[in-house]
Amino acid sequence: MEKLLNAKKIILESNYLIALTGAGISAESGIPIFRGPNGLWRKYKPEELATPQAFARNPRLVWEWYAWRISIVLKAKPNPAHFALSELEKQGILKFLITQNVDDLHERAGTRNLVKLHGDILTVLCTNCGYRGRLKEVPDEIPPKCPECKYILRPGVVWFGESLPPRELNKAFEEAEKADAILVVGTSGVVMPAGAIPNIVKRNGGYVIEVNLSESAITPYADVFLKGKAGIILPKLMKLIRS
Ligand code: OAD
Repeated sequence: MEKLLNAKKIILESNYLIALTGAGISAESGIPIFRGPNGLWRKYKPEELATPQAFARNPRLVWEWYAWRISIVLKAKPNPAHFALSELEKQGILKFLITQNVDDLHERAGTRNLVKLHGDILTVLCTNCGYRGRLKEVPDEIPPKCPECKYILRPGVVWFGESLPPRELNKAFEEAEKADAILVVGTSGVVMPAGAIPNIVKRNGGYVIEVNLSESAITPYADVFLKGKAGIILPKLMKLIRS
């Protein structure tokens, strides 16, 4: 309770609170995380699936994996952690959210001011003609073809070895520089540059509040570490903030 009260105090005294989220916030919505005992990368080698080379070598295999993940995202619903963050934004307290997640659960929960640093799994791109589309269901044909030029479409996500979208990355760093507090939820903090964002806030004298099931790369410098499920902790924190 004392830790939750500390977190509440930091949040209410902040002038510019931002949030950084990772796969852990969507875990309670049924979307597998990447690392840890139940992580995606334990069952699939990332270099076999999430790289431009893998896609060039075997687009069907890569697309089968994405089709499976897309079907999970389409069925998933935002959980109380996503709703807590959108409420915090509506109250004018949370100014900006940076997510590493490629699902659309923050948007569906109502968060408006956000960037998606690693792309969007429901977007498809044609690297031949520049076509960009949005998926409402799992593509019938695997790999899906561009409706304009019939070239193979690719998922609109960032793969290992690729650069992050520059506009989103700049915005995320701009927001981090402005922030005097950051709420970090459900990320291992090991994938750069996203993992370095809480450190920017800390370096500038701001506070770091972390919510995670277990310790992460961010925990050693977190001012408050709230250990547990995001879907339980964030609604509790919101209740305290409302009271
Ligand atoms: P990870 O899978 O690396 O880490 C998920 C974190 O969430 C872990 O620290 C877990 O302890 C924590 N966690 C799990 N369930 C939770 C829950 N219910 N409540 C709170 N915390 C929970 O996922 P990310 O840090 O998001 O990038 O991974 C970063 C990037 O690595 C991903 O965006 C993806 C991957 O490679 C790309 O695809 C480019």
